[in-house]
Amino acid sequence: MEFSIRNLMRDTSLPNTEILILLEKVLQKPKTWIIANDLNVISNVLFYKYIDLRNRRIDGEPIAYLVGYKEFMNNKFLVNRSVLIPRPETELLVDVAINSLKPSNGCRVLDLGTGCGAIAISIYLMKSNIEVVGSDIDLYALSVAEMNSRKLCANIDLIHSNWFDCFDSKMGKFDIIVSNPPYIHSLDKHLESGDLRFEPRIALTDELDGLSHISNIIYNARNYMNKGAYLWLEHGWDQSSMVKYLLKMAGFSNVNSFLDLSGIVRVTGGSI
Ligand SMILES: C[S@@+](CC[C@H](N)C(=O)[O-])C[C@H]1O[C@@H](n2cnc3c(N)ncnc32)[C@H](O)[C@@H]1O
Repeated sequence: MEFSIRNLMRDTSLPNTEILILLEKVLQKPKTWIIANDLNVISNVLFYKYIDLRNRRIDGEPIAYLVGYKEFMNNKFLVNRSVLIPRPETELLVDVAINSLKPSNGCRVLDLGTGCGAIAISIYLMKSNIEVVGSDIDLYALSVAEMNSRKLCANIDLIHSNWFDCFDSKMGKFDIIVSNPPYIHSLDKHLESGDLRFEPRIALTDELDGLSHISNIIYNARNYMNKGAYLWLEHGWDQSSMVKYLLKMAGFSNVNSFLDLSGIVRVTGGSI
């Protein structure tokens, strides 16, 4: 049996936009070409490749894992199942970090729990004369960050560490520390639904109340911060007051929060 692109586009199990994204991946052609050539018949090999992706998508696998990339801050980041898929709301953390980076601060930035490197690389690409370090506990995640740094020509350093455990005085101090740590409560039902089912659990939850990694970072960060440096953290919709409290208890000043595009308090931080 022969299938044309048009036959595949008539499938009602997926939205047309998603069919096009999957076809783009399988045919290695831009969407405009696919639409203009929809009477083309596709080979059996490509047909079965497409059907595999289509069925996985119907079973709920995130489209970013199926096509192998996700756009973040206008760049395409490679992703696979070892890394969290970068979220649009995390772009706020990048914007907040960039805005708090004054020339007088110097320009050393640390991204803790870098995953695919989306935050670290975006900050590097947005600012000249900057030194950026990304760290993660997961070596597979670091290998994805390494691929992205090469692909996007971002000369960042990557370090394997359990938060600050492998940092020593040779590492020097930073002007901005950012982190989007795993902050979901281990019993949160969302972990068993939607995209989260497919993402690495270590990227999502601390296996406790969601605040243990955040407090660990807050209590240790100041040892690695220059005077006047900022720490910015992404957190859950109901965690901002607790994060503010922890920052104040740890001696941070200028403690402040920012709302994401959905009006949710998403980023909180302060300076030392
Ligand atoms: C929510 S993901 C954030 C990924 C990426 N920064 C982003 O925003 O898309 C959290 C990241 O923290 C890393 N992580 C989890 N526990 C860690 C630990 N104890 N030390 C360092 N990194 C850790 C995970 O491997 C994961 O890459």
